[in-house]
Amino acid sequence: MAKIRLDKFISSTLVISRKDATSLIKSGRICVVGSPKIKPDDKVDDSLDEVLFDGERITFAENIYIMLNKPMGLISSTDDKSERTVLSLFDKSYADKGLFPCGRLDKDTVGLLIMTTDGALAHRLLSPKHHAEKTYYVECDKEFTEDDVALMKQGIMMDGKMTKPATLQILNDQKCAHITLTEGKFHEIKRLCYACRQKEVLYLKRLTFGGIHLDESLSEGEWRILSDEEIATLRKNKS
Ligand code: URA
Repeated sequence: MAKIRLDKFISSTLVISRKDATSLIKSGRICVVGSPKIKPDDKVDDSLDEVLFDGERITFAENIYIMLNKPMGLISSTDDKSERTVLSLFDKSYADKGLFPCGRLDKDTVGLLIMTTDGALAHRLLSPKHHAEKTYYVECDKEFTEDDVALMKQGIMMDGKMTKPATLQILNDQKCAHITLTEGKFHEIKRLCYACRQKEVLYLKRLTFGGIHLDESLSEGEWRILSDEEIATLRKNKS
């Protein structure tokens, strides 16, 4: 890694403003091992220098990768004139760093939404050529049948094109199922269920995205930073 200014290192990694990073450095809570006196404009190299925050090693993070358990009632965009967006769950410093949702869930859908500042990775994950695999838990007003399994596998005409094969796994309560998609058309799950003898979706939750599983310890509206392994899993999705 090339050398970067210490205040940039701290503001990117801790997702705080440059001004707050400067205050943190001046407060003495940041140390660079082997450098008794540090200044915000000092240069550090992550591969050579050990940077500590309150005594814990921190490593440079250029981009932000977050797993959000999206609650009902919020829309998956960065700003909107009339509706509350998923970005409202985050401190303003995240918006300032360019955090955005990777893909969309409907306002009434809950569950796994990846939020990132990494435009290139999001582009790859959402590219129609290789849309990352996604699994949803769905509850409908009528029971699923084996005919529905066959229809979802075969595909239906949607927006002038056949849908890609979807996997329907009926659960013990047959009004409930897991559905796995490899594309992301508008309202795809709801429209697929409606094509199966007009089932209405009563509850929809996304459980997985691109090999990442929703951390069930997160309540709706809660989020956490993705682990290095989870980021590596997302990167394995080819374009
Ligand atoms: N399919 C839907 O119908 N809604 C979603 O939010 C996601 C997939």
